[in-house]
Amino acid sequence: MATGQGADGAAVRRRPGGAVVLLAATALAALVLVAATRPEDDAPALVLTPEEAELALEFSPLPPIPADPTNAVADDPDAARLGQAMFFDPRFSRDGDVSCSTCHQPDLSWTDGRPLARGVSETPRHAMTLWNVAWNRWFFWDGRKDSLWSQALAPFEDAREHATSRLAVVHAVADDAAYAAAYEAVFGPLPDLSDAERFPAEGRPVPDDPGHPHAAAWDAMTEEDRAAVDRVYSDLGKAIAAFERRIVSRRAPFDVFVEGVREGDPEKQAAMSPSAQRGFALFAGRGRCLLCHDGPTFSDLEFHSNRVPVTNMGDGGRAQGIQDVKADPFNAASAYADDGGASATVRLAIAPKNLHFPGEFKTPTLRNVVRTAPYMHEGQLATLDDVLAFYSTMETALPPDPTGERFLQPRHFDEQELADLRAFLEALTDEELPEALKGPPAGF
Ligand code: HEC
Ligand code: HEC
Repeated sequence: MATGQGADGAAVRRRPGGAVVLLAATALAALVLVAATRPEDDAPALVLTPEEAELALEFSPLPPIPADPTNAVADDPDAARLGQAMFFDPRFSRDGDVSCSTCHQPDLSWTDGRPLARGVSETPRHAMTLWNVAWNRWFFWDGRKDSLWSQALAPFEDAREHATSRLAVVHAVADDAAYAAAYEAVFGPLPDLSDAERFPAEGRPVPDDPGHPHAAAWDAMTEEDRAAVDRVYSDLGKAIAAFERRIVSRRAPFDVFVEGVREGDPEKQAAMSPSAQRGFALFAGRGRCLLCHDGPTFSDLEFHSNRVPVTNMGDGGRAQGIQDVKADPFNAASAYADDGGASATVRLAIAPKNLHFPGEFKTPTLRNVVRTAPYMHEGQLATLDDVLAFYSTMETALPPDPTGERFLQPRHFDEQELADLRAFLEALTDEELPEALKGPPAGF
C-alpha cells in the first residue's frame, strides 16, 4: 500500500480503484449522517470521520494466509501435526530441557515475558511473538531468514537456544517410532542413518568456529551424506512452519468494529469505545504510526529505526541481516526451496539495494500487543505506557542516522491522547486460541 503525506498533514493513500473508494466514502458519509441524526442516540457508536473510517477498512480483516511456494507441505495437516509435536518437544535440545515453546509460550502470546530470551543461556534479543508469522516476508528482528521453514532450522543449532546439531535432531526423529512414521508419511522414506561412522551422533557446520567438534564431525562426512541430512533437516523445518502457519490471531474488537463500519451496523461499531476509536484516528493520522505499522497485521513487514535506546550498540540489525540471508545455505534461492528458487529472485534481488542502515529492525505486529510485554528487540521498554511515552516525547531517542529515514517526530500526545492510543491498542486483543494449538498433539 502506498502511503504519502497530504498537505493538511493527514496520511493519504494512493491506490488504484479510486471510484470504489469514493463510493465507499459516500456510503460511509451517509452512514455517519444516519448514526448522528438518530434521535435516541446521543452518543453515536461511530465517532470517526468518513475518511478515518475508510482508513480502518484497510486494517481488517486479515486476508487469507499467503501461500508459501518454497514449502510444498505448508498447508499439509499431517506436516503441521509433526511440526507441532517438534515445537513443544524439549528432546530436540542439548540438555533435553529447551523447546521452541520455552521462548514462544502459547499462554504468553507466543513470547516468554522476559526482556532477553533465555534457552541454554541468554540470547541478545527479545523473543518475538509468533502471531500471524505466515504473513511475514523476512524473519527475525534483522530479517536474516527469508522463509518460515528456514527460520525454524536456526534455533536448534544456536548455542544459546537449543544448543544441539542437525545430526542429533535428524537422528532423534529417525530413532523414535512415532516421529519416524510421521516424517515418512509426509516426506517419504528416511535415509538409512544407522552407520555411525558415516552419520555421527552430532555434527553441523560451525562457520565461526571450524575447530568445534560438531564442525570436525560434519566436515569428515561425504558431501552426499551431508546433503541427505540437510534434506531431512529442511523437511523438519517445513513441518514446523506448517504448524506455525496456524498461529493466526482471531477476531479482536477492532475487527468487529470494522465489520460494523462496512455493514453500517452500530451494534458492531460499539465494539470499540469512542476513546479507542479516537486512538485509531491518532494512530492513522497525527501520530503517523501507520507509516510503519501498516496493513492487517499492523506491520509493513519491513525494517526501520524507531530510535529506541539500546544496550547493544554493536547489533547490526537489518544491515547485517541482509548479508546473512544472502549467505544462508537454506535461503529461498537454495536447492531446498520447493519452487526451485522462483520466489527468491524477487526477494533477494531487493535485499542488496543499499536502503538499510544499522539500527533498523523489523516492524513488529501490534495484534495482541497488550499481551506481549516487554517491548522492542531488546525488551528494553517494560510496558505499553513506556512505549507510548517514548513515541510521544522521543526525549530518550537515539540520534537519527544522518543517511536514514526521518519518519518519526515527537508528537507530544496529551494525557487523553495517550489513553486513547492505549485503548485502541487494547482493542487489537483477540479471543483465546483453541486448546488444540497450545500443546503437543496426541501420539508423540
Ligand atoms: C531461547 C529462546 C528461543 C527458542 C528456544 C526459540 N526461539 Fe524463536 N525467537 C527467539 C528470539 C530471541 C527471536 C528473535 C531473534 C533474533 O531476531 O535474532 C525469535 C524469533 C523467532 C521467529 C521469527 C518471527 C518473526 O516475526 O520474524 C520465529 C518464527 C521463531 N522464533 C520460531 C521458533 C521456532 C520454530 C523455534 C524452535 C525450533 C524457536 N523459535 C525457538 C527466541 C527463541
Ligand atoms: C518509522 C517507523 C515506525 C513508526 C512511525 C512507528 N513505529 Fe512502532 N515500531 C517500529 C519498529 C521498527 C519497532 C521495533 C523497534 C525495535 O525493536 O528496535 C516498533 C515497535 C513498536 C512497539 C513494540 C511492539 C513489540 O512487540 O515490541 C509498539 C507498541 C509500537 N511500535 C507502537 C507504535 C505506535 C503507537 C506508533 C505511533 C505513535 C509507532 N509505533 C510508530 C517502527 C515504527
